[in-house]
Amino acid sequence: MVNGKLSAGFKKGLEDVIAGESKICKVDGKRGRLYYRGYSIEDLSTNCTFEEVTYLLLEGKLPNRKELARFTKELSSMRNLPKYVVEILEEVAHRTTPMEALRTAVSSLAGGDKDVEGITTDYHLAQGKSMVAKFATIVAYYHRINNKMEIVKPDPSLGHAANFLYMVTGKRPSEIEAMAMDQDLVLHAEHSFNASTFAARITVSTLSDMYSAMTTGIGVLKGPLHGGASEAVMRQLQAIGSVEKVEPYVKDALSKHRRMMGIGHRVYKVYDPRARILKKTAERFSKATGDMKWYNIADKIERVMFREKKLYPNVDFFSSIIYNGLGLPLELDSPIFAISRVSGWSAHALEQYGDNRLIRPLDYYTGPIDLKFIPIDERK
Ligand code: CMC
Repeated sequence: MVNGKLSAGFKKGLEDVIAGESKICKVDGKRGRLYYRGYSIEDLSTNCTFEEVTYLLLEGKLPNRKELARFTKELSSMRNLPKYVVEILEEVAHRTTPMEALRTAVSSLAGGDKDVEGITTDYHLAQGKSMVAKFATIVAYYHRINNKMEIVKPDPSLGHAANFLYMVTGKRPSEIEAMAMDQDLVLHAEHSFNASTFAARITVSTLSDMYSAMTTGIGVLKGPLHGGASEAVMRQLQAIGSVEKVEPYVKDALSKHRRMMGIGHRVYKVYDPRARILKKTAERFSKATGDMKWYNIADKIERVMFREKKLYPNVDFFSSIIYNGLGLPLELDSPIFAISRVSGWSAHALEQYGDNRLIRPLDYYTGPIDLKFIPIDERK
């Protein structure tokens, strides 16, 4: 083993391994560029709504006004949850984290779909859209139920981002708040063969159904090295507490080989372009609310981590500050990632179904062979 990488023609963690072809997303880790279907993330995040980007990901082209209006209406008409899914949330909310509840609720959506095993693109597309619409409702309902508040039904007059904020907080967001949420959803929507997307594609490659694929995605996203980092970032900022404590905190963490959450990336070796955009929004937002504390701590962590390890912030680093400014509870940070990434997962699922081959890699076996078999009564 050399530097954690086995030398038998493969890489631990599949680092740098190309595991398939895709037309959905280009991540240029060397130059810090990101494109959805060929369009730069800078253009998309400043000009498009989440619905527009979801259309782009699912349909492969940007919608014209008429197409977008139809798609937005279609998505908003799919936001309501079947009664039995609300009952499941009522049953599990106080026993689970929101990611666990989301995983359970999404899996249960299959029960309300008579076309669950439908094998045509039309079925898969309809199921993908339905889940994009419903993830936000599930997370908001979880929050309201878990905090013993009345659920707030979706408002079809609001866009996806604004409606999510409304369903969580019970208040209609300002235009600036809705735009910040929208931008955050756009930036999290897609990121090529990241762990959760790849896992969802593996599920699809067995010709399993869309609900199983999305449930797979949630389970994989939940981990602290992936989407779980989002929530961990704010907990870390809270644990540090002030700009003065950043330096000793980071040094202590590094000396004990603890990870600084929201820092580092497998593919980006330069600044994550999503973090660059979110940093500006977090700064603007913090100035507007008059609370610079979290931003200033984060900014200092960024500088210390670059000096110590030459590592940059990733997409999760500044988003938690924006969520905090939007009045969203910390425990929803990772589920918000899922609310957005479901559109990327759905696009990849469609692509995988459309040109499928079972994903079944090999392993490099390092255990023994031809051991002498010992009958059970003779074993020590
Ligand atoms: N804090 C401290 N050291 C780090 C960090 C970090 N966040 N990230 C990487 N390193 C160090 C690591 O200790 C190692 O150092 P050395 O060579 O001295 O032993 C070196 O950088 C390479 O680390 P690695 O684990 O081989 O790199 P990786 O490509 O497997 O890790 C990562 C990528 C994202 C898992 C990692 O950077 C990390 O754990 N970050 C913190 C968790 C996080 O923010 N995750 C969100 C990722 S982006 C959004 C998403 O995909 O969900």
